[in-house]
Amino acid sequence: MVQTDEMTTIKQDALEAVEKAQDAQALQAVKVQYLGKKGLVTGLMKHMKDLPKEEKPAYGQKVNEVRQAIEAAIETRQVTLNEAALNEQLAQESIDVTLPGRAVANGAAHPLTRTIEEIEDLFLGLGYEIVTGYEVEQDYYNFEALNLPKSHPARDMQDSFYITEDILMRTHTSPVQARTLEQRNGKGPVKIICPGKVYRRDSDDATHSHQFTQIEGLVVDENIKMSDLKGTLELLAKSLFGADREIRLRPSYFPFTEPSVEVDVSCFKCKGKGCNVCKQTGWIEILGAGMVHPNVLEMAGFDSKKYSGFAFGMGPDRIAMLKYGIEDIRHFYTNDVRFLNQFKGVEDRGETTC
Ligand code: PHE
Repeated sequence: MVQTDEMTTIKQDALEAVEKAQDAQALQAVKVQYLGKKGLVTGLMKHMKDLPKEEKPAYGQKVNEVRQAIEAAIETRQVTLNEAALNEQLAQESIDVTLPGRAVANGAAHPLTRTIEEIEDLFLGLGYEIVTGYEVEQDYYNFEALNLPKSHPARDMQDSFYITEDILMRTHTSPVQARTLEQRNGKGPVKIICPGKVYRRDSDDATHSHQFTQIEGLVVDENIKMSDLKGTLELLAKSLFGADREIRLRPSYFPFTEPSVEVDVSCFKCKGKGCNVCKQTGWIEILGAGMVHPNVLEMAGFDSKKYSGFAFGMGPDRIAMLKYGIEDIRHFYTNDVRFLNQFKGVEDRGETTC
């Protein structure tokens, strides 16, 4: 029977074509060619109308069997092709775990940040709070509230950048003590440290910068004595420069403290014998301090008969220069990575590198 032969040929050709299809696209083409609306298998159905009635069901069933066989073959081939495609993709995307990784460029904390954090850690451990203020400050808090009225000659010690007559870039972190005292409504205890940037009109050189950092310390309570200040600063000196350091207080002058002192630490390099770091004196000046002037307490609303306190101000720039043997303060502010990279991995908190 012609139709049966044709059917057999179509089936064989279709199964062969399915096996030959190398990808999903080729397989789809085979599917359309044989099973599509105008496909060869569909074409076989057209012969139905020429068949005698009694042969029609058997013929139809055979065509369906052919269709099903081809469909099944396509499905099997599809699975095989998918698997092959996946395997190929996996092979291409495989990771060679033996290849060296791509290094991530790690940053490191700036030496000034390190020094400030080290000092903060010490004082947080002593129960101090960290308070920050404003870099753009009112003349009142920067000077007047610190016992430096408008025409006071000591204002010359801190020449500044004025924005208006009454607003300036703060010249020190002491306005934070004035503001904090004012906020406490005459009630102690106050125990704060205030880190931050300060500004002075200065020509920049190896030891001067128009912008630098300070950390202010302030303690106000009943019965605070000079010996409390000394003990605190001794602890600070030992923590920064080594357990066998000593401190020395020299009389000095600040309008906001009375008495006032300059504080020296025994040289960590020569242990007091005299060297280039301590300029042959055996001592290095590290900060200014004193007992809070009664005028400062009174102006902020504290009863100076009941309360007393001490304050100190230090420069992390200078401390970092000493600790790390840095010769020029400008290195801190020019952001040369060759300089900054040297501080990667310097984790020695409290030890000197000299
Ligand atoms: N504010 C002073 C300065 O910048 C330092 C200081 C602070 C001195 C607190 C005494 C007490 O020079």
